[in-house]
Amino acid sequence: MYSDTVMDHFKNPRNVGEIENPDGVGEVGNPVCGDIMKIFLKIENNVVVDAKFKTFGCGAAIASSSMATELVRGKTLEEAWELSNKAVAEALDGLPPIKMHCSVLAEEGIHTAINDYRKKHGLLQWVEKNPHSHDHTEDLTCDH
Ligand code: FES
Repeated sequence: MYSDTVMDHFKNPRNVGEIENPDGVGEVGNPVCGDIMKIFLKIENNVVVDAKFKTFGCGAAIASSSMATELVRGKTLEEAWELSNKAVAEALDGLPPIKMHCSVLAEEGIHTAINDYRKKHGLLQWVEKNPHSHDHTEDLTCDH
């Protein structure tokens, strides 16, 4: 059912844990399956210098958090914002269709953490103008 990459990131997740004094924190959950993901970002000079996560959820959600935190490290905030759930799923060599929503949690967690940072720095105006900013709640349908 899962690719080797998903299994690798599930069994040996990268970047698990918390960042002390994070610059941005995003906690998101899927109300249907009850899975919860918390993303911590360290940001310096507009670049994500560290990213960690804590996920209480299914294997695909853990693998998605692991891959998403890997992918945003070293990226500018604008580049990190562009990370889509599809890109996370592709980097994992695919997710079964019924597990795609788990990667949406990762995208949403990164977005929420970036917005937390922007709120703290009075930069949220930029987000509202960003065409990629949208509400994900309708994407979060769970199958069990
Ligand atoms: Fe709900 Fe994976 S996030 S089953």
